[in-house]
Amino acid sequence: MAFSGAQPPYLNPIVPFTGTIQGGLQDGLQITVSGTAFYSGGTRFAVNFQTGRSDNDIAFHFNPRFEEGGYVVCNTKQKGSWGPEERKMQMPFQRGSPFELRFLVQSSEFKVTVNGNLFVQYEHRVPFHHVNTISVTGAVQLSYVSFQSPGIWPATAAPMTQRFVHTVQSTPGQMFPNPMIPPMAYPNPAYPMPFFTSIPGGLYPSKSIIVSGTILPCAQRCGSCVKAMASGWPWMVSTFLNTTTA
Ligand code: GAL
Repeated sequence: MAFSGAQPPYLNPIVPFTGTIQGGLQDGLQITVSGTAFYSGGTRFAVNFQTGRSDNDIAFHFNPRFEEGGYVVCNTKQKGSWGPEERKMQMPFQRGSPFELRFLVQSSEFKVTVNGNLFVQYEHRVPFHHVNTISVTGAVQLSYVSFQSPGIWPATAAPMTQRFVHTVQSTPGQMFPNPMIPPMAYPNPAYPMPFFTSIPGGLYPSKSIIVSGTILPCAQRCGSCVKAMASGWPWMVSTFLNTTTA
């Protein structure tokens, strides 16, 4: 199975959250943090890639601040001391709106994308292979933290070509979308596999979830599943898969 090496995700982790990164950071590893920044309980949140559970050695501190128009601080802490800050005077997050934040570990830097758009690059100041822990703190709620291992895609193939995933809200009992409730379309043009996301509004009878994609030429199998977390509800899920080959 292609993804057997991937670390399972942390689902709905409670903040402050500290989790192990199995095998530590590696070149090509991608970590996805999905959540929503709060309006209350502070004006900052942070994602830290660190050594161990103490916060004395943080290779990469990514710290959005909803202050002074909004900006993001990036920094490294070594033996308890912060280095010089790199500030990006833009705020790609909106409080109250779900975000998908991705960290791609590369040999010389972290590449950070927010909702599919490259936001910042942060050059390694300490060797990234010292990092074995991710922590998230501050005014944020998390849906999941997931890991996409390097090397699961052939060098020439994109993980998934341009398609979309959206859920269609329909009135319970109806098979067809209710035009009064707009569909929720996920913003990104491409998703690495395995893909995890929360379902806005949860599942209920007649709700449709449409998953559209392209099967890679090298694929032996593909599929999708919806895992109902802590729900005893009866529900129906429709899955449509476009099976054009890339
Ligand atoms: C400090 C702040 C820390 C951390 C650091 C980054 O002022 O207290 O939480 O964000 O800046 O440079």
